[in-house]
Amino acid sequence: MNNRQDFTDYLRLGVNIDHVATIRNARGGEHPDPLRAAHMASKAGADGITAHLREDRRHMTDQDIERLRGEIDLPLNLEMAATDEMLAIALRHLPHATCIVPEKREERTTEGGLDAAGGHNHLVPIVDSMRANGIRVSLFIEADKRQLDAAISMGAPVVELHVGAYCDAVGDVRDAELTRIQEAAAYGAEIGLEVHAGHGLGFDTVGAIAEIPQLVELNIGHFLIGEAIFGGLDSSIKRMRSLMDKARSEVSGERSA
Ligand code: PXP
Repeated sequence: MNNRQDFTDYLRLGVNIDHVATIRNARGGEHPDPLRAAHMASKAGADGITAHLREDRRHMTDQDIERLRGEIDLPLNLEMAATDEMLAIALRHLPHATCIVPEKREERTTEGGLDAAGGHNHLVPIVDSMRANGIRVSLFIEADKRQLDAAISMGAPVVELHVGAYCDAVGDVRDAELTRIQEAAAYGAEIGLEVHAGHGLGFDTVGAIAEIPQLVELNIGHFLIGEAIFGGLDSSIKRMRSLMDKARSEVSGERSA
């Protein structure tokens, strides 16, 4: 297993393009096309494309996943619920990576982390079969030691920490949330997990998260697509990329000073 205790200067950016599909689906046609967004994201500096095929198909469709898998030059990270249907889809398309997320039909977005500890027996065969097929499996979890231990115990090589509560919080609560994420990232790396983070990140919140040295990837969607309305997708991704790079170079400078 990859032990990421060592600081990595480069923080990967996975661009989640679900909400390009949300806008397309509002009219039911083909515009705007998520595949075009994926190509633009690639040119703007994304390291991967992330797409969530929800059980109710409210944004991405099966055909979108097929096209993304076949036609983009970046690794595809498929976010999915831990169901037989989604497992079969993942095994059919064999994306570079999957991220198992909790899913409730009535929620607007993925509201919390997966209960990896409580769902251990249900998740193990899903993780096993994707790993056996060469897919890098990640679990989207809260920044919580028990969940990190559960990820290790079921052989998941990667976790993505849900940072939505940090992004939504203000003042002391935000500081406490940041500390919780920092501690979880350090602990995760120490026990041998590759640690990612995502959910709710924007220009104002990405810096502090990008400075967490153990993180190797951030997945960002809603803010980038929203910001693209005002300045274009290329510009929103490039700005996010540069904020991430700036945060990383500051940490790297401090470490070598
Ligand atoms: N990571 C995971 C696992 C998610 O489910 C989502 C939302 O689909 C994101 C990252 C991106 O969150 P946001 O769209 O708020 O940037």
